[in-house]
Amino acid sequence: MILSPEKNNIKQAATFLKEGQVVAFPTETVYGLGALGSDDHAIAKIYTLKNRPKINPLIFHCLNFNWVKEIAEISPLIEKIANYFMPGPLTLVLKKRKDTKISMLATAGLDTVAVRVPVHPIAQMVLSAVGEPLVAPSANLSGRISSTQAQHVESFFENRIAAVIDGGDCYYGLESTILDLSIDQPTILRQGAVTRENLEEVLESQVSISSSLEKIKAPGQLKKHYSPQLPLRMNIENPKEDEAYIGFGNRECHYNLSPSKDLTEAAANLFKMLHAADDGSKYKGIAVAPIPMESVGVAINDRLSRACSKENLDE
Ligand code: TXA
Ligand code: MG
Repeated sequence: MILSPEKNNIKQAATFLKEGQVVAFPTETVYGLGALGSDDHAIAKIYTLKNRPKINPLIFHCLNFNWVKEIAEISPLIEKIANYFMPGPLTLVLKKRKDTKISMLATAGLDTVAVRVPVHPIAQMVLSAVGEPLVAPSANLSGRISSTQAQHVESFFENRIAAVIDGGDCYYGLESTILDLSIDQPTILRQGAVTRENLEEVLESQVSISSSLEKIKAPGQLKKHYSPQLPLRMNIENPKEDEAYIGFGNRECHYNLSPSKDLTEAAANLFKMLHAADDGSKYKGIAVAPIPMESVGVAINDRLSRACSKENLDE
């Protein structure tokens, strides 16, 4: 059921959530599949719905930094980062507080927790109406393309969730940047709209990017992820006849990420166009034009290379 974001519908959504049901809602990054962060039963539903391995922990969505303080240990450095980037498209992995009531299932038994404060007004309204943190993984099946529109969520889950609140297109269109601050060396576990340069400027120190596949902390860094069902090729100047061509800049193509070469616009369009191009009745594959490796283009290329990967991982 798609609900418009009116006051009464937000109230209804909050009631569903408090009853332990699953409700999808928009954030500025992608749509999230929400459930109460303290309710093991509701969280188990999310893992089943997404077909998600239970070793893959979820992100806790908080109304503000005070809520973050209730579940994670805070340091001056964490506070500084939060001042700059929260609310917004940044998730922090922090040491979990020992006295917190959040679900062990959602943190996959780890002693760390991922937290984020979404800035989207609908996400804010839902959190405020519920009054406690919500877990919200991206509203897609595990390993598939995230949802940036309510219709994408419907196509994945149809009547298996209580509702999806329609907030139109997500502003960023890529999942949040994940920064691990639970270890001495700040490390990006997933790239996003908040870039390494943005973080280094505020932290005044070097930020690493984790590529270790041995100690996988964020399956968003698994090689094969964010995949359409059709085979995908990137950095393509000359697509094949039977491929859907996703272009960038002034090109002849089926879908154009940004005719004016605006990377922010391209990021916002990426998943929407991948969803649309992923149509086996029209095409045999998807080809994507080269995207510059600068600012959010780094995150776009990261998602594309994972979507292209032939490596078969148990996701
Ligand atoms: O933009 C977003 O972050 C969206 C919106 C809905 O908020 N959510 C999202 O959630 O992308 P999900 O579950 O699809 O991705 C969460 C990522 C996973 O790769 C997970 O492994 C990682 O966060 N993660 C969660 N807890 C972690 C932890 N304690 N340590 C390391 N990684 C963690
Ligand atoms: Mg996801």
